[in-house]
Amino acid sequence: EFNARESLYILLNQAKEFYKDKLWNDEEGKAIGLSYFKERGFSEETIQNFDLGYSLDVWDAFYQDAIKKGYTDEQLEKAGLLIKNEEKKYDRFRGRVIFPIHNISGRVIAFGARILKEDKKQPKYINSPETEVYHKSHVLYGIFQAKQDIRLQDTCYLVEGYTDVISMHQAGVKNVVASSGTSLTEDQIRLISRYTNNITVLYDGDNAGIKASLRGIDMILEGGLNVRAVVFPDGEDPDSFSRKVGEAEFKKYLKHSSQDFIAFKVGLFAKEAGNDPIKRAETIREIVESISKIPDAIKRSVYVKEAADLLKMDEQVLISEQNKILIKAS
Ligand code: UTP
Ligand code: MN
Ligand code: MN
Ligand code: MN
Ligand code: MN
Repeated sequence: EFNARESLYILLNQAKEFYKDKLWNDEEGKAIGLSYFKERGFSEETIQNFDLGYSLDVWDAFYQDAIKKGYTDEQLEKAGLLIKNEEKKYDRFRGRVIFPIHNISGRVIAFGARILKEDKKQPKYINSPETEVYHKSHVLYGIFQAKQDIRLQDTCYLVEGYTDVISMHQAGVKNVVASSGTSLTEDQIRLISRYTNNITVLYDGDNAGIKASLRGIDMILEGGLNVRAVVFPDGEDPDSFSRKVGEAEFKKYLKHSSQDFIAFKVGLFAKEAGNDPIKRAETIREIVESISKIPDAIKRSVYVKEAADLLKMDEQVLISEQNKILIKAS
């Protein structure tokens, strides 16, 4: 219903302003939050551009402010900002730096919040729960700031995390969005396809990142989009790597290390398989399976040819393997 949603947006915007005010004007916010972002290399302009904030390290600073402004417990709970149980009620976000999540038209719909020092007792990030205006699986972090550049460049970089988006922006690569740690969904791919049909996956250089990029690639192919991938050195993500090598080197790396999905998969599996014929066969099947996900038959045949070349295989063998998969799926 319109009015309920509208008042939720207003409340979320109010919260964003509250966290920003704490970051820029409060002693604790400046000493802890602002210096955290600056130590990460974020400029003031970047911090402003992404509406970053800070939540004070007390139980109910935001709650008290919101009550004074006339909001009810029910509204605050519905917005995902208040946690209420039998004993007490308290702010969801406390003692963390805040990353507002904007929808495509720039309205704040949710928050991610990072702990300042990582420890094992608490999750590194906590995020808003699902609400009337926040459906995690439909949202891409950074889409509002990126959409124009995605259209202009006719390609979209897809990363894992909030800070990857922000660092790449600051390095001048603005056509970038994050799936925010969840596996990519059909809805997210559809959202990108409003602006471009080309996605380059830039997941973290660790096992989880590689697995996620393999899954992501198949999802993107199924959605009928073109997909490339960039692999980062072990333990690096786009944020850490861009800071390590600097803006110019980072841009060069994106350009020169980008591979289409077949080359990416061949490279990945070739490393594992070596000369083991059984593993080689698995690799080949894996690649043919990805190609089979492409809805367009002409594209499929182009990719089969490329795969045959890269794998040094007879194209006919791949075609018949593909036909088996397609028949099974139909
Ligand atoms: P990462 O663990 O790669 O974090 O998770 P990061 O983005 O590199 O963060 P920094 O650089 O350490 O600050 C990728 C994304 O997964 C989600 C967040 O959206 C994060 O940006 N995530 C991660 C969570 O939601 N909760 C967590 O506890 C960890
Ligand atoms: Mn939904
Ligand atoms: Mn990661
Ligand atoms: Mn990361
Ligand atoms: Mn990181």
